[in-house]
Amino acid sequence: MDVDLCIWLILCATGVMGQFQVEPLESTVLKGSDARFSATVQGMWEVMTWNVRGFLVLTVPKIGNISSSSGQFSASFCSAEDTTCVVFTIHNASRREAGPVICTVQGDYGSKLARLHVQESGTVQIKEGDKKVTQDDEVDFNCLTSAWFPSPVVSWNLNGGAVDSSLYNSTHVAHEDSFNSSSVLKFKAVKNSTVECLAILPTLTKPLSSSVHLVVVPKPPDWTVLIAVVCSFGGFALLFLLIYGMVFCYKRRREKEPNYQEEMIKRFRTQSQLSGLRPPGQKQGQVNAGYVTDGQKSVTPSDLTESASTRSNVFEMPDAVYNGTENGNGYSIADEGFRKHRHATTV
Ligand SMILES: *[C@@H]1O[C@H](CO)[C@@H](O)[C@H](O)[C@H]1NC(C)=O
Ligand SMILES: *[C@@H]1O[C@H](CO)[C@@H](O)[C@H](O)[C@H]1NC(C)=O
Ligand SMILES: *[C@@H]1O[C@H](CO)[C@@H](O)[C@H](O)[C@H]1NC(C)=O
Ligand SMILES: *[C@@H]1O[C@H](CO)[C@@H](O)[C@H](O)[C@H]1NC(C)=O
Ligand SMILES: *[C@@H]1O[C@H](CO)[C@@H](O)[C@H](O)[C@H]1NC(C)=O
Repeated sequence: MDVDLCIWLILCATGVMGQFQVEPLESTVLKGSDARFSATVQGMWEVMTWNVRGFLVLTVPKIGNISSSSGQFSASFCSAEDTTCVVFTIHNASRREAGPVICTVQGDYGSKLARLHVQESGTVQIKEGDKKVTQDDEVDFNCLTSAWFPSPVVSWNLNGGAVDSSLYNSTHVAHEDSFNSSSVLKFKAVKNSTVECLAILPTLTKPLSSSVHLVVVPKPPDWTVLIAVVCSFGGFALLFLLIYGMVFCYKRRREKEPNYQEEMIKRFRTQSQLSGLRPPGQKQGQVNAGYVTDGQKSVTPSDLTESASTRSNVFEMPDAVYNGTENGNGYSIADEGFRKHRHATTV
């Protein structure tokens, strides 16, 4: 212990063992941007080199021109006068440059190891695109991110407000040296909304996003209930009509039926009368007339009494005639008889 400390102190004092720092030791940049490392050297130094992923890419002499393997790498003194500080820059960083970055100060300074991380943003897309659903429907959106490194943090916005993380979940798939991911958002459609899927990485100043429109059409009236109501009402109406119709028909038939029977009886009677009173020769063509007159006679009771009275008159007349005179020709004789009688009384 004592020996080590003594050697270190001696080296320091003599300036053989130099000291230098590299900052930062970890650098994370987005692909395409610049990565910077700075080295601060105490004491006298001659040449500084930078290795990226094992390749010497840049040499910085304390005095003279900086040489670089390509335009992608550059270095400069932090200020024109201060030669203790060197800034090394990797321009347009990509995953090819990601890895160890080693700074070496020739002499007894040794090397310092730093590390570069390069993140890559890919694409974000809501698979479904715009959607149209009916109100209160369960709706789901699938957000696909492709070719990200590392896998991004995916979140959702609904009308600009962050969606609770319990409503979505994500799965990641490593694909060669990048990631694809899928995030599924499920919620109940309430109103017209803008649905936005956001994917972010620490190096992104703002998330990449994809947004779609959700059009919510108002829920149509419950047709089943409406149909049920209409059907039941219709059924009742139909049943009522049916019953009413049946009653109506029955009534009409009952009113009609006796008439028919009567008619049949009348007809039968007429037929029998005609066949009984008239000679069979006169029957033809007379049936209708007979029916009509007979019908008239039978329908009106006054006719019956009239005929009865005439009949009685007819019977009376001969009586009177017989009383007056005993001659065969009733009418004239009776008249004569009356007249004679009158004559007899007056004379
Ligand atoms: C440094 O570069 C300049 C031009 O870029 C050149 O004129 C000069 O000679 C170089 N110096 C040395 C030491 O190579
Ligand atoms: C950055 O690097 C990529 C390859 O990694 C190249 O295609 C692109 O042109 C470069 N951009 C600039 C500005 O040099
Ligand atoms: C999360 O994923 C599981 C399995 O894939 C699934 O059953 C579940 O419904 C998902 N949850 C949400 C909120 O999407
Ligand atoms: C990642 O996504 C790209 C483009 O969508 C596709 O071509 C590729 O097959 C996917 N990789 C995996 C591992 O799913
Ligand atoms: C959503 O917007 C459409 C027109 O884009 C409109 O017809 C519909 O009524 C809206 N829905 C709601 C719930 O406001």
